[in-house]
Amino acid sequence: MKETAQRLVASSKGILAADESTKTITKMFEAINLTSTPELNKKYRKMLFTAVGIEEFISGVILYNETIRQGLGKILEGKAIIPGIKVDEGLEPFGEGEEEATKGLEGLPERLKEYLEMGAKFTKWRGVFRISDTTPTDSFLEENLGRMVKFAKISQEVGLVPIVEPEILLDGNHTTTRCEEIETKVLKLLFEKLVAEGVDLSSLILKTSMVLPGKDNGVKAAPLEVAKVTVRTLKNSVPSGIAGVVFLSGGQSPNEATDNLNEIEKNLDGISFPLSFSFGRALQEEALNSWKGFDENIKIAQEVFINRARKVFFARKGELT
Ligand code: 13P
Repeated sequence: MKETAQRLVASSKGILAADESTKTITKMFEAINLTSTPELNKKYRKMLFTAVGIEEFISGVILYNETIRQGLGKILEGKAIIPGIKVDEGLEPFGEGEEEATKGLEGLPERLKEYLEMGAKFTKWRGVFRISDTTPTDSFLEENLGRMVKFAKISQEVGLVPIVEPEILLDGNHTTTRCEEIETKVLKLLFEKLVAEGVDLSSLILKTSMVLPGKDNGVKAAPLEVAKVTVRTLKNSVPSGIAGVVFLSGGQSPNEATDNLNEIEKNLDGISFPLSFSFGRALQEEALNSWKGFDENIKIAQEVFINRARKVFFARKGELT
């Protein structure tokens, strides 16, 4: 597990998140007037995975249940890209307010053993944390992070590297300062619980958000500011024994996510663990819009995808010009 975790965050390469649930890919496709079907989902994802040169930039891909069962993990293995799998089962209401907790612990050990047999080497569990004046509440943090830690423990027991993903949502009108405060609180509590449960941090990856102002705040933070606050937040809350930290793109445009990553890598300020990327939308958006569901667009869409992956690869090294 330790070796897999290290390979996933090896210098310059990063992870492609292609684990959109049926609901999410349906929405993505609707935006370009396509109807999601298992066959069309497969065609789209196969297009990405077979793009020439993908293995130069991508160390691992997070798959969805449907995709791993369609055998697409084998294409990745053929290119020495590590296949992983999203194993949470989405969100359910929590309490009286708008908070939603992640579900999927029931029957998890059995599902994980099946994924292991199908070739998966790592797993991902996403929790969602919404910032408002009153959220996240303490009872929600206890419950949702508790579930995340149980997942990590079970995953390591089965022999799969867990990626714990507490996503601090971009939605809302909060300031960067409030985002830093909440992300620090969430991560500190998460690691307290991981350590208390005996999860091996050297075989664990944290996937989290860059520290940004809410998208309705009216302010766009400059990359250098994002970098400084994000690095400070991680230094204050992530133990140095962890295998690595990767960022989600979380609704930033491909250019924003890439530029912010580049600035972060230029301002590591003594961070002692690898910092990399695990983008979904920021890596896929332009390719999806070039493809539009037409076979004759596959080649150009693959080129567009590789172009973005190359930019993110340079950003991962802080060498994007
Ligand atoms: P985005 O980069 O699109 O936020 O996706 C990452 C992810 O895996 C969300 O769970």
